[in-house]
Amino acid sequence: MKPIGPLMREHRLIERMVKQLEAELGRINASQRCEPSFIDIAVDFFRIYADRTHHGKEEDILFAALARKRLAKEHRETMEGLIADHVFARKTVGRLVAAKEKYVSGSTASMADITDCITELVKLYPRHIEKEDEHFFYPSMEYFNRREQDEMLDRFWEFDRTMVHTKYQKVLADLEEGRA
Ligand SMILES: [Fe+2]
Ligand SMILES: [Fe+2]
Repeated sequence: MKPIGPLMREHRLIERMVKQLEAELGRINASQRCEPSFIDIAVDFFRIYADRTHHGKEEDILFAALARKRLAKEHRETMEGLIADHVFARKTVGRLVAAKEKYVSGSTASMADITDCITELVKLYPRHIEKEDEHFFYPSMEYFNRREQDEMLDRFWEFDRTMVHTKYQKVLADLEEGRA
């Protein structure tokens, strides 16, 4: 298997969450209310799965290895655009958390921010995934020989294996230090 195999499979799960966000937008429009518990679930998914687990493997392993190669200008520019998308997604999820907290403490005006953030994520992810799946991942593999690809796949598995432990170590550290 090529290392892009698990990344593309992860894209399919992210797409399913984007559909759930679209459905939530419809519910917000119909009821003029939003569901904070849904937002908590979506935020956890985008932070832990989409960002740390998925973007983490892209940025820390695949993109880092590509940065050590002599990339064609087109591929370097695409990679920079993908990294900028990750930064934007992270910021938008942070804004969504802040807007949800305001909403929970009684600010109905923050619902506009909530719908704005969800709309941005719904627009961003399908475009971002299409760029990777259709225009970047396959050409990126051309820079690595078979052995390098196998090593990268092993690093991906190792990254995933430690992720759940890292997450719950942080949960406990936050509780113990009063941050949760
Ligand atoms: Fe990405
Ligand atoms: Fe991706």
